[in-house]
Amino acid sequence: MMKQINVNSIAPIRVGMIGAGYMLKLHTLAMRNLASLTDDERDRFELTRLVDTNAALVEHEAIRWGWSQMDTDWRSITRSADIDLVDIATPNDSHHEICLDAFAHGKHVLCEKPLAMNRHQAAEMAHHAAASGKVHIVNFTYRSWPAIVQARQLIQAGKIGKIRHFEGHFFQDHNNDATIPLHWRFQKACAGAGALGDIGSHVIDLARFLVGDIASVSALTQRFIEQRPFPHDRTQSGKVDVDDLAAALVRFENGATGSIKASWALPGYKNDVFFSIVGDKGAIRFSWERSNELQIFDAADEPQLSGYRTVLIGRAHPGAELFWFPALGGELGLGVTAQGIGYGEAFTLSFRHYAQALRTGKSLAPNFIDGLRCCEIIDAILLSAETGAWVDVDKTVIV
Ligand SMILES: NC(=O)c1ccc[n+]([C@@H]2O[C@H](COP(=O)([O-])OP(=O)(O)OC[C@H]3O[C@@H](n4cnc5c(N)ncnc54)[C@H](O)[C@@H]3O)[C@@H](O)[C@H]2O)c1
Repeated sequence: MMKQINVNSIAPIRVGMIGAGYMLKLHTLAMRNLASLTDDERDRFELTRLVDTNAALVEHEAIRWGWSQMDTDWRSITRSADIDLVDIATPNDSHHEICLDAFAHGKHVLCEKPLAMNRHQAAEMAHHAAASGKVHIVNFTYRSWPAIVQARQLIQAGKIGKIRHFEGHFFQDHNNDATIPLHWRFQKACAGAGALGDIGSHVIDLARFLVGDIASVSALTQRFIEQRPFPHDRTQSGKVDVDDLAAALVRFENGATGSIKASWALPGYKNDVFFSIVGDKGAIRFSWERSNELQIFDAADEPQLSGYRTVLIGRAHPGAELFWFPALGGELGLGVTAQGIGYGEAFTLSFRHYAQALRTGKSLAPNFIDGLRCCEIIDAILLSAETGAWVDVDKTVIV
């Protein structure tokens, strides 16, 4: 029997996305996947308009990913009456101006990390976000990952006791290649910081998410590749002026200590978002290179069984039920299903969370305050690396 398919009765969230590069793929995939995976009609994003300054790219990507319209001027998004959410995925030096314009024109804003070039810009953005009454979000996507949410739940339930130590890093090796041209990520004027801001921002955010705020840092940075070829004339090269590696000792406000490190040029590391958190009753550790596993240690285990157990992420873990784990072996499918999920699913879970924030009108974390705190920690790490001294994290109060 042929039947008309019901159209949504609830208006979708109309999105204007700025930046048609790498992040376009993940954001669009997430919004499209969410519409098919969720039963909640309110979790619907409409791909209304895509903008990029590169006209050829934006046309190609808009068609490929199913955006209704395209443009080359971001104001056609921030100032348009047919947009609810401004989704910013441009290089870091443009976030500040676009965000302020979007709030001034009454839009909700989702901004990529790091929120800004430095803590001063970030504080101004957070002030405008709070004053606007609109929903503000920073895309710290690892916060949505089921193994990481599970780790947080175990910590909050007291399973590992009082936290003593956090060891976290984000290591990759792709920028160890000196032939990679001098694009925006290698220039302080466009990026603000190097590996520290680009990928270190994620592990800084996870440290805050899992342990708490950071009080002070003692850090160093290193650059391994000083010159890179210009993108448009590879016979010439220019100077890199950002870090290839940053390493910091940190003191948390709650008394725990730890370390945070980031590098995009350490051969052998493919995408290691790693943390080990040790408390007085147990410990938890995680690596994105084995992202479907969580390792848990319970100090109360009898000596013969004392050791980390590996838990495979499946339907029983927070968020994972959205995906393709069949409910075999009981409602939670315990012990039966763990087919595995990946990077795209992390973004889908993030966008489900953001849809919830938008529908309730609440700027649920990760929001611009979290983005600001991260920028404050990045600035403290850079200052400590420059001076060789311990630096207190300078926190701006946002009311
Ligand atoms: N959350 C995450 O896990 C994650 C991962 C990667 C990147 N990011 C962040 O996303 C942002 C974008 O990174 P990317 O890897 O997609 O970069 P990219 O270089 O692949 O793409 C950026 C795009 O923005 C366009 N652009 C630059 N200035 C513009 C402007 N003023 N108006 C419109 N378009 C403009 C460029 O033409 C380019 O196509 C950065 O802030 C980055 O740190 C976040």
